[in-house]
Amino acid sequence: MKILVTGGTGYIGSHTCVELLNEGYEVVIIDNLYNSKIETVDYIEKITGKKVKFYKDDCCDKEALRKIFKENKIDAVIHFAGYKAVGESVKLPLNYYHNNLGSAIILCEVMKEFNCKNIIFSSSATVYGNSKRVPFKETYKLSTTNPYGTTKMFIERILTDLHISDEDWNVVLLRYFNPIGAHPSGLIGEDPNGIPNNLMPYVVKVATGELECLSIFGNDYPTKDGTGVRDYIHVVDLAVGHVKALEKIQKDNGLFIYNLGTGEGYSVLDIVNTFERVNKVKVNHKFAPRRKGDIATCLADPSKAEKELNFKATRTLEEMCRDAYNYAVKNR
Ligand code: NAD
Ligand code: UD1
Repeated sequence: MKILVTGGTGYIGSHTCVELLNEGYEVVIIDNLYNSKIETVDYIEKITGKKVKFYKDDCCDKEALRKIFKENKIDAVIHFAGYKAVGESVKLPLNYYHNNLGSAIILCEVMKEFNCKNIIFSSSATVYGNSKRVPFKETYKLSTTNPYGTTKMFIERILTDLHISDEDWNVVLLRYFNPIGAHPSGLIGEDPNGIPNNLMPYVVKVATGELECLSIFGNDYPTKDGTGVRDYIHVVDLAVGHVKALEKIQKDNGLFIYNLGTGEGYSVLDIVNTFERVNKVKVNHKFAPRRKGDIATCLADPSKAEKELNFKATRTLEEMCRDAYNYAVKNR
């Protein structure tokens, strides 16, 4: 099968390309390199020993997409391309609605033209909004607290409507929890520009000396040590989840929604302590006020993906911390 991976040179996309190639799928990537580098294509090929076809194009460009579908007989699409910074989306909502909704709609229009009706979409635990009922189940009512989250909720709705309009559309909505870590080769990983917003990239930059001190946002949450608890999942496990989702729509037709997480919660202090222990480095940190919009605990109920996809994340927090640091050290 030939899979079009949008955003395939990005953090999660690149790891997914590796797992797809390892499983024998052919991979075509479209990425405008807004938040990734062309070298990633070489690294994907180096890790797997297989070739990928790369198009430097924008998913909002209908003609570019048509050209890709004309030149390649695409069987399914995994749609990662999009903007993902929560804070930025509050400041620049139109950019987020334009890029995230625009690319999803145009992509689906072109897929329809070429009769390719299999799509896997990168959604997020952010669609559970401020829910306090943890762990989150796929059946919970959705709500959002920022434009980024709203784009995810809207795209889920659009793909659902598409499936309702024509049951030949097979749709998998994957709600990621907190992906961290990197490929153990150290060739691909997460490398945000500027000062990171998310915890693990920040921890890494403090450990390598690029940033001075981690601010831990809040130590008075109703959690075991007062710091926020999240469901961290190794990015390679997450990538494997996409292969499982593809297998699902080869077996069964329909619309499917899955959480991809571990179901296990770790606090900010757990992350800092484990990172220090595994990598034998110091991560300077101090307590700071809570970050606006944060919730105390965000955890997946991963049982549906386990039952229906036969997907279970296996990589430990130690591996997540080790691989994240290994990638950073190799790429300084
Ligand atoms: P990323 O920024 O590393 O990858 C996204 C890729 O898409 C980048 O390479 C970027 O250049 C490309 N891109 C953006 N807009 C494009 C467009 N219009 N046309 C072509 N390419 C475009 O992000 P990521 O962390 O790999 O996330 C992938 C997807 O997963 C995103 O949709 C994101 O919202 C979602 N997601 C990520 C997380 C996370 O923690 N990383 C959590 C939940 C959901
Ligand atoms: C964030 C996004 C969420 C997105 C997810 C995955 C916000 C409000 N939420 O979730 O929509 O789906 O990323 O990418 O941005 N922390 C610190 N210090 C830091 C950074 C983070 O203490 O410098 C804490 C946070 O308060 C939180 C935990 O670390 O308790 C994880 O934070 P982060 O990595 O930003 O992820 P989320 O907030 O879960």
